[in-house]
Amino acid sequence: MRVRIYLTRDEYARSGTEAPVCVVIDVLRATSSIVTALAHGCAAVVPVAEVPRARALGAERAWLVAGERNGVKLPGFHFGNSPREMTSPQLRGKTLVITTTNGTATIMTGSRAKLCLVASLLNLSSTAEAVLAAGGEVAVVCSGTEGRFSLDDYYVACALTTLLTSCLEPSGKAARRARFILQRYPDPLDALRASAHGQRLQRLGFGEDLVWCARVDAFPVVARWNRGAVVASRQSPVSGTARLLRSMPGAAKGRAAGRRQSWPPDFCPALHPVAFPAPVVAPYCCP
Ligand code: MLT
Repeated sequence: MRVRIYLTRDEYARSGTEAPVCVVIDVLRATSSIVTALAHGCAAVVPVAEVPRARALGAERAWLVAGERNGVKLPGFHFGNSPREMTSPQLRGKTLVITTTNGTATIMTGSRAKLCLVASLLNLSSTAEAVLAAGGEVAVVCSGTEGRFSLDDYYVACALTTLLTSCLEPSGKAARRARFILQRYPDPLDALRASAHGQRLQRLGFGEDLVWCARVDAFPVVARWNRGAVVASRQSPVSGTARLLRSMPGAAKGRAAGRRQSWPPDFCPALHPVAFPAPVVAPYCCP
């Protein structure tokens, strides 16, 4: 297994990689919103890059519509892009169209891979399990903010790759750098709050969204692209990796209200017997 982190959508697109597995991250807030919607019974989430297209799909197919520009809910839409809105009973069994500034376009780009997964801290271990089950080369794509590096997405990419590489020997500079970032921010909420986009959201009054998005493994959902939409699939019953990942000492299983958790956990030697090919985190230049 070979894992490579792309710091922005453009970097991924320019690379021309043909990695069969692509994991898209826009933790603040698109991928967290999508995962929350699926965890609360939404049947499918259709990501759309452009506002008029989202509006048209909503009208033509009588789908619910969510989205933002500059962090703010779009006029006439049912929902903005706050993951806390995505718990609405209105979403149960329904299709939701969503358009956001960066995240939805990144999902569209990643959807060309054989397997495209939508990741956030909320479904971190479930995503890791799906990646391990798929094997092969993996592109972890950070949405970034307006084409630039974004600490919030990079933090999740580091958490995911560290979780993957923790099965075996940590390898290479990039894997060590990922561990360094996690040690710098033992609480994910601190990383989200320190990021430029996190600060902007706090200024806009969405500080509680950061608390929501920082809950590691709150939802056991694998969110994957399937013919034009993101849908939830249950964890693979074969690998049992999620069970193993969750049995790691101190593993974060979701933040109890108001309780701060420590992340990353101490990585567990018990994972060593799992027979996966050694993951290698490809080197890249940190900005
Ligand atoms: C994005 O796609 O750029 C973000 O999800 C923006 C936001 O936080 O609403």
